[in-house]
Amino acid sequence: MENPSAVLHAVGDIRIEDRPVPHPGPGQVQVAVHAVGVCGSDVHYYEHGRIGTMVVEAPMVLGHEAAGVVTEVGEGVDAARLGELVALEPGLPCRHCVECRSGRYNLCPDVRFFATPPVDGAFARYVVTDADFAYHAPAGLDAAAAAMAEPVSVGVWSARKGAVAPGSRVLVTGAGPIGLICAQVARAFGAASVEISDVNEHRLAVAAALGLDATDARSGRSDEVDVLIECSGSAAALTAAVPRMARAGRIVVVGMGAEAVAIDLGLLQSRELWVTGTFRYANTYPTALELIASGAVALEPLLTGRYPLAEAERALRAAHEDPRALKAIVLPWA
Ligand SMILES: NC(=O)c1ccc[n+]([C@@H]2O[C@H](COP(=O)([O-])OP(=O)(O)OC[C@H]3O[C@@H](n4cnc5c(N)ncnc54)[C@H](O)[C@@H]3O)[C@@H](O)[C@H]2O)c1
Ligand SMILES: [Zn+2]
Ligand SMILES: [Zn+2]
Repeated sequence: MENPSAVLHAVGDIRIEDRPVPHPGPGQVQVAVHAVGVCGSDVHYYEHGRIGTMVVEAPMVLGHEAAGVVTEVGEGVDAARLGELVALEPGLPCRHCVECRSGRYNLCPDVRFFATPPVDGAFARYVVTDADFAYHAPAGLDAAAAAMAEPVSVGVWSARKGAVAPGSRVLVTGAGPIGLICAQVARAFGAASVEISDVNEHRLAVAAALGLDATDARSGRSDEVDVLIECSGSAAALTAAVPRMARAGRIVVVGMGAEAVAIDLGLLQSRELWVTGTFRYANTYPTALELIASGAVALEPLLTGRYPLAEAERALRAAHEDPRALKAIVLPWA
């Protein structure tokens, strides 16, 4: 096979198929994909065939947390980029709409995002993408670390939306891969304290080993925080944290899945609380790569499994079969 790819055909049905090798058009690069992280959304498509209104209606390649080496350049792209290790920002916005022109291109209604139907993802040997969305990885990073610029971007965006700054007291609810990353990014942004809560003892142990203030979510802690970064998707986590918000505190909702949540408007008004969701990220990749390269965001404890492409399905199952699993990585050239 020239371009073996892990294709989702139906719920629980992944097939390794040879897809045509894509070639770059003007302004694009072809990338040999060396590492792709498995994200909760990949697992969700594999198990349910849809996320809300986004439904997999035709066979689709999964995977959107990718890094690799530039193997071909299209017209207008500097040939010096051949051989460069790059992290791939997975969402290509239209660049013309009001959202794109306002800089919040993560909200572009016409974004084409890897492994979001109907766009194929990166569980493949080769992909093509826009050259300016393939970011140079600093020296010293391997492909797996560079691929983590995607979830680290979620963390950078959460810290920016929460205005985390030196002195901030931060609470992160949920110590999954995203919470563990958001907490480390908050610390790198200067937070004075970073508490992270979960109900899974393995994950709390990883958080503690990373030097974070790991707390059992059932502990009933009530000390004040300036920023809440909700990364569990649990309504209970959000509701329990709201009374802990300091005046002018920022509530950043990263986790998905909870439905309507009641928030005390009296508290919201008397303390002038801010509440925002986050949808992916914009203009975060250079910062994310720097945080990884400097070691400010440690990833090794999160990378709990590495799988060749032929075992992509095992990688997708790891999340639910092993309570210690955090982030599985697929290595298409292994
Ligand atoms: N907004 C975005 O752009 C964006 C991007 C990526 C992921 N996400 C979302 O972020 C969330 C986290 O992703 P993940 O991969 O780390 O998921 P995950 O499921 O691995 O982690 C969630 C963690 O929350 C814990 N938890 C459950 N109830 C809790 C409670 N009451 N208090 C504290 N912790 C609790 C779970 O034990 C688990 O460890 C998911 O909902 C995901 O969909 C959002
Ligand atoms: Zn992801
Ligand atoms: Zn747009």
